[in-house]
Amino acid sequence: MQVAVIGANGGIGRELLPRLADAGHDPIGVVRDESQFEAVRDRGGEPRLGDLEGDFDAALAGADAVVFTAGSGGSTGADKTLTVDLWGARRVVDA
Ligand SMILES: NC(=O)c1ccc[n+]([C@@H]2O[C@H](COP(=O)([O-])OP(=O)(O)OC[C@H]3O[C@@H](n4cnc5c(N)ncnc54)[C@H](OP(=O)(O)O)[C@@H]3O)[C@@H](O)[C@H]2O)c1
Repeated sequence: MQVAVIGANGGIGRELLPRLADAGHDPIGVVRDESQFEAVRDRGGEPRLGDLEGDFDAALAGADAVVFTAGSGGSTGADKTLTVDLWGARRVVDA
C-alpha cells in the first residue's frame, strides 16, 4: 500500500518511514524542502514536495492512505497553529 506521511522529516515521520517500508508498504515522504529528499530515501521512502501553507496538490497523488504528522511546533505563534495544524490538516482531508 502507498502510504503518504505528511511531516516525514519530523520526529515521528522519521521513525515511521522505515517501519512502513519494513512492513512491506511503499511510503511516500512528504517534506517541504528538497534538501530533505535524501534523508527520506535513506529511510525507504519516495520523497515528494508538499507545503501545507503553499504548493501541496501533487503530494498525495496515488496514495492509498495518509498519516498526518506535521505540526507547527511550540516555537511558532497561534497563526501557524491555524494555518498548519488546523487548515493544513483540513487540506489533507479534502485532498
Ligand atoms: N513527538 C511527540 O511525542 C508528540 C506527542 C504529542 C503530540 N505530538 C504532535 O504530533 C505532531 C508531530 O510530532 P513530531 O514530534 O514529529 O513533530 P516535529 O518533529 O516538529 O515534526 C513536525 C513536522 O511538520 C513539518 N511541517 C511544519 N510545517 C509544515 C508545513 N507548512 N507543511 C508541511 N510540513 C510542515 C515540519 O517540517 P520541517 O522538518 O521542514 O520543519 C516537521 O518535519 C506535532 O503536531 C506534535 O505537536 C507529538
